Parts: sequence; structure tokens; C-alpha cells
Amino acid sequence: MWLLTTLLLWVPVGGQAVNVTKAVVTLQPPWVSIFLKENVTLWCEGSRLPGDSSTQWFINGTILPISTPGYSITKAMLKDSGEYSCRTGLSMLSDPVQLEIHKDWLLLQASRRVLTEGEPLALRCHGWQSKLVYNVFFYRDGKYFQSSQGSEVTILQTNLSHTGIYHCSGIGKNYQRYTSAGMSVTVKELFTAPVLTSSLPSPFLEGSPVTLSCETKLLLQSPGLPLYFSFYVGSKILEDRNTSSEYHIPSAEREDSGLYWCEVATEDGSILKHSPELELRILGPQSSAPVWFHTIFYMSMGIIFLVDTILCVKIHKKFQRKKNYNLEVLLVSDQGKKDTSS
Ligand SMILES: *[C@@H]1O[C@H](CO)[C@@H](O)[C@H](O)[C@H]1NC(C)=O
Ligand SMILES: *[C@@H]1O[C@H](CO)[C@@H](O)[C@H](O)[C@H]1NC(C)=O
Ligand SMILES: *[C@@H]1O[C@H](CO)[C@@H](O)[C@H](O)[C@H]1NC(C)=O
Ligand SMILES: *[C@@H]1O[C@H](CO)[C@@H](O)[C@H](O)[C@H]1NC(C)=O
Ligand SMILES: *[C@@H]1O[C@H](CO)[C@@H](O)[C@H](O)[C@H]1NC(C)=O
Repeated sequence: MWLLTTLLLWVPVGGQAVNVTKAVVTLQPPWVSIFLKENVTLWCEGSRLPGDSSTQWFINGTILPISTPGYSITKAMLKDSGEYSCRTGLSMLSDPVQLEIHKDWLLLQASRRVLTEGEPLALRCHGWQSKLVYNVFFYRDGKYFQSSQGSEVTILQTNLSHTGIYHCSGIGKNYQRYTSAGMSVTVKELFTAPVLTSSLPSPFLEGSPVTLSCETKLLLQSPGLPLYFSFYVGSKILEDRNTSSEYHIPSAEREDSGLYWCEVATEDGSILKHSPELELRILGPQSSAPVWFHTIFYMSMGIIFLVDTILCVKIHKKFQRKKNYNLEVLLVSDQGKKDTSS
């Protein structure tokens, strides 16, 4: 689990920097809500000195009289509900895990209440006293999203759209459809979608050095998390999975103009986000006027030439017709003169 390795924190101890990890509470079976009288074991995972298995357990911030890595709750009672956290010899206090004990016909069980995008989420529609439930439907925010032949589904890679209130329904005894209560699940963003920026505002003259920066923000306190940056222009890869968030063009040429974008990914590629496109326009040395100016200039010249030609042809034709008419009039009047004279 890469998240475990990314929870590394720098803690100065006696003037010396020592890597101390946060402990993690896991459940077995994994469900954070269970029925009354069911069993669950909580485990505390964290660094320990060799030979030291001692563990501290807390419920609602109060220390429990237990020092084993596993804490078993058998035949859970309502008073076992609470926020559990733990600590081992070489670890910091874990994030709390909220365990709820319920009494109902049907229970929506989830493997986590709060998780980070990319992590899996298991859901189960569980009948009271493990009675069989058929034809199970799962809902998020009141909308059906999946059915299951069994009573369990897993979302392998969660994203932000999986945040919501989950419930389930299923057919139980007397062929009646039962509906569970809702349970809130929150998926947290690990890093923001990146934004690509250029060290020079576009357009600029060719020959200039340019640096493109792919900027993202890590939202969890996980400074050790390695991120990989890729840079593209159009569909062409410029730089593939580098740990540097910058891409340098030592001397930008006119042909380097185009639509640039970048992508940020985790080491295993389970989370991948890309930036909007950034247009770079690089101008040649003589042409200080941008390309659109030339286009419009030549197009207008072309149109003027075309209109001129058409006008010329029309005027010429009109002129010729007038000439013919004058000639006719001349001939007719000549004829008249001849007629009257004869
Ligand atoms: C702490 O961990 C980092 C890598 O995560 C490593 O480079 C460094 O050497 C470690 N420091 C100590 C004191 O163990
Ligand atoms: C819980 O554990 C107790 C003691 O180990 C056992 O008797 C009981 O059957 C278990 N209950 C369930 C629901 O598994
Ligand atoms: C812990 O707190 C929850 C709610 O805040 C409460 O329902 C539960 O009874 C508390 N558990 C203990 C053991 O104090
Ligand atoms: C989230 O994951 C679902 C699949 O589980 C996928 O259909 C959806 O497009 C994803 N949403 C985002 C914003 O990545
Ligand atoms: C990653 O980028 C740096 C700085 O731009 C560069 O020096 C290095 O060669 C690149 N590494 C790889 C594997 O491409």
C-alpha cells in the first residue's frame, strides 16, 4: 500500500531528524459498522523496536487497558461504539477509526468512512443475524448505482465522485424488500488537477528560452509522496514521467508553437490528472506582426482584387453596349434623314 509509505513525517528528535510513521488501525473483518453481538478485531500497524510489541489503544481519546497489537471485540455492545486510535513504540498516534454498533434488519457496511482517491472501497449489504439477502441494490445519494448477486461490491479505484451517502436494499424474509440506513463516505483529493504555466507570456519572439511549469498542490500532509510529470504538445510526448515539474525549451523556434498540456501521476499511475491546454505562439524574427494579421491582409487584398476585376468587366460591358446603341441610333437617324430627303 503506497499510502502507508507516504505517511512519512519528519520529526526532529533530540536535534536529529528521524522518520516516524503514523500508526494505522485496520479492522478484521474490514467493516466500520457492525451489528450488535458481532465480533471484530482491531489491529495496530506501525513501526516497533525489535522485540517490542507493546501498543497503546485509545477510545474517544481515552486510553484503554490493553497493550496487544490486536484488540478483539466479541459480542459487541452499543457502548463499544466510538473512535479508536492507537500508537506503537516507533509510531505517532494513528488517525481515528470510527466503529459503530447497530441494531436493524439491514446494514450498509463500508470498509472506510474517509479515504483518499485511488484507494478501494468495499461495500456490503448485511442482514441481521447474517440472514440471507437477495437481489441487493446499492445507492449513492439516493441514486441506484450497482446491483449484486452476492451482497458485496468493491469500487477498485475511488475518485472524488464516489463521495456521498450510501445505502442498500435487498429482499429478505417473506420476500419483502428491506432498506438500510444511510452511511456517509468521503473521498479526499490527493493532489489538485495541475495548471500549466509558461515563463514567457505568449506570443514571444523565437530564440528565447522558455520554462513550462506543471503546478499542482498536494492536499494531504504527505510530503514524501513522489509525483511524476509528463509534458505534451498536441498528442506528442515531450517528457514522459519525470519527477521534475518543469520542462525547459532552451531556444524556442517558430515550429514549437502549439497547444501544450501536462499530466501528473502517482508512482503506480493509479491517479492521473491532466492540465488544461496552454497555447504557445512563437514569432519569427522579421515578422513582428502575428500570423492572423498576414492572413487578414492577404485575404482583404484578394477580395479587393476580385471586386475590382468584376467591376471592370461590368463597366467594360456596359460601355460596349452603349457604343452599340449609339451606333444603332446613328444608323436609324441616318436612315430617317435618307427617307426624308428622298
Ligand atoms: C528518511 O526517509 C527518507 C526517504 O523517505 C530517506 O531519504 C532518509 O534517509 C531517511 N532518514 C532517516 C534518518 O532515516
Ligand atoms: C464471536 O466470538 C465468540 C467467541 O469467540 C463466538 O462464540 C461467537 O460465535 C462469535 N460470534 C459471531 C457472530 O461470529
Ligand atoms: C464515544 O463517543 C461516541 C459518540 O461521540 C459515543 O456514542 C460512545 O458511547 C463513546 N464511547 C465511549 C466508550 O465513551
Ligand atoms: C470516477 O470513477 C468512475 C468509475 O468508477 C468513472 O466512471 C468516472 O469517470 C470517474 N470520475 C472522474 C472524475 O474521474
Ligand atoms: C528529468 O528532468 C531533468 C530536468 O529537466 C533532466 O535533467 C533529467 O534528465 C530528466 N530525467 C529523465 C529520466 O528524463
